[in-house]
Amino acid sequence: MSVPLGAGLQDRGVLVTGATGGIGSAVVEALAEEGSRVAAVDLDQDAVDALVGGLEDPERHVGIAADLRDTGRLDELVRGARAQLGSLHALVHVAGVLVRRPDIDAVTEDDWDLQHDVNLRATFFLNRAVARVLQEDGRGGRIINFASQGWWTGGFGGSTAYSASKGGVVSLSRGLARTLGPDGITVNCVAPGAVDTPMLRDGMDDPALDAFREQIPLGRFAQPAELAPTVVFLASDHAAYISGATINVSGGQLMY
Ligand SMILES: NC(=O)c1ccc[n+]([C@@H]2O[C@H](COP(=O)([O-])OP(=O)(O)OC[C@H]3O[C@@H](n4cnc5c(N)ncnc54)[C@H](O)[C@@H]3O)[C@@H](O)[C@H]2O)c1
Repeated sequence: MSVPLGAGLQDRGVLVTGATGGIGSAVVEALAEEGSRVAAVDLDQDAVDALVGGLEDPERHVGIAADLRDTGRLDELVRGARAQLGSLHALVHVAGVLVRRPDIDAVTEDDWDLQHDVNLRATFFLNRAVARVLQEDGRGGRIINFASQGWWTGGFGGSTAYSASKGGVVSLSRGLARTLGPDGITVNCVAPGAVDTPMLRDGMDDPALDAFREQIPLGRFAQPAELAPTVVFLASDHAAYISGATINVSGGQLMY
């Protein structure tokens, strides 16, 4: 008997942030194909509406515009998503920002604050808001955060501040995995290597991209859709006993 990768996801509510980005849109499409009901969250209402409108049975899903830096509104965001989906099983927190600077002297305090506000600060308060709802409902659940190879390597191409924020994402995910485990809530990270989206190419010239590619044993960047199955697996029944893990999806660039 074949067991689907998305076992247990049918009709379950999943909140996906960064939903209209390169990886996020692939994740939304994969979860919808597995039968989940998705709350697709990103900055622009028209863009989330267009994404949801392109899914099969769009009325099963909802598009919500929100700036995750507005941490005082995250409880309301999560409660609204649960109400619209009927229930909430998982958070897939894909949203992130990268500001490349050629050297550390060029990094401004605004650069630092933006990356830490979106990548780290919002992650903690959004994870907590989701955990509160999952605890209230008493059925356990899943939190899946997006780190980066930079959490381990310190980053390439002027991304030291970004990488520090992603190191924080791994640490806070581990802490929350310990804290929330007794409630049956797992917390894991996905750490992409190099995924062919505008975030990867922005601020990198061709020689820099070639040098990055040469570090990858598979010899190519990932396509965004290649990240989605790892997310589906972590949200599914198959991963019920995996918590505190950081899954390296880097084509062999990292080996840990
Ligand atoms: N592309 C890569 O090579 C790569 C490598 C390692 C890690 N990652 C991580 O994977 C995730 C997705 O990356 P991507 O390449 O799809 O990037 P992307 O830029 O295509 O998507 C990021 C999304 O996050 C949204 N977002 C940004 N700030 C927000 C905010 N304040 N509130 C709400 N939404 C906000 C953006 O609108 C965008 O849709 C990110 O967390 C990124 O750090 C990407």
